[in-house]
Amino acid sequence: MFNFKSTTFKMVATTQQYLEPVLSKELESIGAKDIETYNRAVSFSGDLSVMYSANIQLRTALKILVPITSFHIRSEHDLYKKIKEMAWEEVLDVDGTLAISVVLNSKLFNHSQFLAQKTKDAIVDRFREKFGRRPSVDLTEPHLSVMLHIVNDEVKVSLDSSGISLHRRGYKKEQTIAPINEVTAAGMILLSGWDGKSTFIDPMCGSGTLVIEAALIASQISPGLFRSYFGCKHWPSFNKESWQQAIEKAKQLVIEPACKLIGSDKTFKAIEIARQNAVRAGVDEFVVFSNKRFEEVKPPASSEGTVMINPPYGERLPIEEISIFYKQMGDKLKQDFQGYAAWIISSNAEAMKRVGLAASTKLNLFNGPLLCKFHKFELYKGSKRAPKQV
Ligand SMILES: C[S@@+](CC[C@H](N)C(=O)[O-])C[C@H]1O[C@@H](n2cnc3c(N)ncnc32)[C@H](O)[C@@H]1O
Repeated sequence: MFNFKSTTFKMVATTQQYLEPVLSKELESIGAKDIETYNRAVSFSGDLSVMYSANIQLRTALKILVPITSFHIRSEHDLYKKIKEMAWEEVLDVDGTLAISVVLNSKLFNHSQFLAQKTKDAIVDRFREKFGRRPSVDLTEPHLSVMLHIVNDEVKVSLDSSGISLHRRGYKKEQTIAPINEVTAAGMILLSGWDGKSTFIDPMCGSGTLVIEAALIASQISPGLFRSYFGCKHWPSFNKESWQQAIEKAKQLVIEPACKLIGSDKTFKAIEIARQNAVRAGVDEFVVFSNKRFEEVKPPASSEGTVMINPPYGERLPIEEISIFYKQMGDKLKQDFQGYAAWIISSNAEAMKRVGLAASTKLNLFNGPLLCKFHKFELYKGSKRAPKQV
């Protein structure tokens, strides 16, 4: 069905909208070739070791897909027939487990769940007819995850080498309300251009995602190093030696971070959770967490760096109330964070106006389903009078 022994093959790394350029750069750094950027995806080519490194090292990829075929269909029955013709026994053991996902954008069909069911039926019927047994379905850690992209009458079939989304690094067993996803957090830090050497502060850190991702970046720890499950490790083509080499390559990158990494939150429970998450991510010795309100936070003396905030967006609060909170946040930044680059992500454009600083950069970014703006404010040293927002 697919020859993984061929030296190079095409892959697609999926990501969130607006993180495609950052992901392209990451792909360059792991030696991927023929990099092309699309909407929420970057295609590239490489060999098995590039596929393994992509899964282990990339911070802003959600899935590493291997496209295997594409065809046209007019009905659900066509889909069943085409899928059943494929040699699934080459990529999945009869006693293995399976998951199907369908992304649908078509006038011909409207139920992605039904199409996923048809695909699963076609695969298991093929196995039953050949072996008298069939693989079972496992949506948590499947041995083979099959991804279908259906646009009008065209079906693109890919094998998902990650199996489950790479944002699930494995360090967040517990989270607070409104946590940011690990891929978004890493994307924010890479977009900010933080150098990994100067101080990094998140004074509303919740479960600690931003500061933990910053610690991973500063210490060059690959996010895949503490995740054990990857779909491709269960494929018949899995090359243990090549995987081990990719792991070793990632381990050799690790350095001792030279910067200060500081997280705080007004909620005691959040700080407890953030500390445990940092332990699981192996960065607890580099991050200092404390339970305090932003109003009490002071950066280390004569330091420069980045302060990054994912504040409450106040969607359910009266605008007056959340506006006061955003004004206080802006006042605090002007007062105490001179010399810092301040980055704030928020979906609340009205409240953001009350920060009272002129953004030097404003980027679009999704936080879950919410379209946000990610603002940069340069807090120059020596003047407490920050420019007014116009
Ligand atoms: C949207 S959540 C941040 C989520 C975080 N990025 C994560 O990944 O879990 C906002 C956080 O701001 C905290 N917060 C709100 N007001 C605060 C204040 N005045 N000082 C410190 N923390 C505050 C809340 O406790 C909450 O944890």
